[in-house]
Amino acid sequence: MNNKKLEFTLGDTVLPSKVLCAPLAGCSDLPFRKMTAKYKPGLVYCEMVKMDALVRHDPHTYRLLDYDAGMHPIGAQLCGSKPELASACSRIVEDMGFDVIDLNCGCPVDKVTKDGSGSGLLKNPKLIGEIVSNMVASVKIPVTVKIRAGWDCQSINAHEIAQIAEQAGAKAICIHGRTRSQGYKGPANWDFIKKCKEATSAIKIIANGDVNCASSALKAFEATGCDAVLVARATMGRPWVIEDIHRALLGLDPINRTYDDFKNNFFEHIDHILSYQSERKALLDLRRVGCWYLRQGRGTKILREGINRSRVLADALKLIYDYQWEQGDFRTSYSSEEESCDEGC
Ligand SMILES: Cc1cc2nc3c(=O)[nH]c(=O)nc-3n(C[C@H](O)[C@H](O)[C@H](O)COP(=O)(O)O)c2cc1C
Repeated sequence: MNNKKLEFTLGDTVLPSKVLCAPLAGCSDLPFRKMTAKYKPGLVYCEMVKMDALVRHDPHTYRLLDYDAGMHPIGAQLCGSKPELASACSRIVEDMGFDVIDLNCGCPVDKVTKDGSGSGLLKNPKLIGEIVSNMVASVKIPVTVKIRAGWDCQSINAHEIAQIAEQAGAKAICIHGRTRSQGYKGPANWDFIKKCKEATSAIKIIANGDVNCASSALKAFEATGCDAVLVARATMGRPWVIEDIHRALLGLDPINRTYDDFKNNFFEHIDHILSYQSERKALLDLRRVGCWYLRQGRGTKILREGINRSRVLADALKLIYDYQWEQGDFRTSYSSEEESCDEGC
């Protein structure tokens, strides 16, 4: 297969792959994004940032948008429901060097939806059109929109919103095939994504939800006719899934992943954490990130508990570096039934 065929274009912007990395609030910080960027996705989205905080120049919010020069193409995601802030925020993001800007219409959290932001916008498609139009009018970089199938199963309206986003000038729309009421539970319904593809012509359709390995990605392309896929939770502790999917799209043989991949990537992730976070925050991050990599290995529970019990960073690191990694029986294929991480985000 021709590599060029696997490019993904958003207007004049050419992304090198049809496999994109999702925004993950509380998770896809700079160290996390360095790990996924290494596997050459089409784009890495940062965690969502609130429009109000961005225009206030809140330093914590700006930190969520940290990136290194080698991490392009990189996307920022705005969360808010005020059309009057959308232009200023979009310009800030463009001036910071971002390649793509997205509008969050999917966050299900009450404190976000209560002012009509995130998935609250699904109840007001016209407002999405206004916000997106303002974003498009104020920047040269492509604007994308990320939605859910609808607020609940009685109000599925993704196809209607896809048309509105298209008319407003968005270059792509990413549909998470779950409703707001579903949260992150139950299977994503890709039929809703297919319906968006059928209802639109110019806007690119990005499929999201349960795309977690090469075979599920191939199925998503087949089932929905989508133009690209967005991978979220499967990148936690398995950043190479991006490369695995890209290789499958190229028709290349899969790479056999072993405990070495888990170990080496976890160690590299730790290095990124140590060079970015304070000692206190690094210990907290180590618990969370360690759980992602380690939950996929049987017999790693004692190590996980040890990391969680460690009161100082040096103790946790010693446990990790002394661990006999080759003894861990790591699952090489993704399973959604892996033991969940209480320490997760
Ligand atoms: C911890 C967590 C944080 C998330 N943060 C964001 C976010 O900041 N912006 C967003 O649009 N979606 C966010 N999502 C949704 C994901 O991007 C994605 O749509 C969802 O997890 C479904 O994809 P998956 O089945 O591949 O995990 C988040 C999901 C999780 C689990």
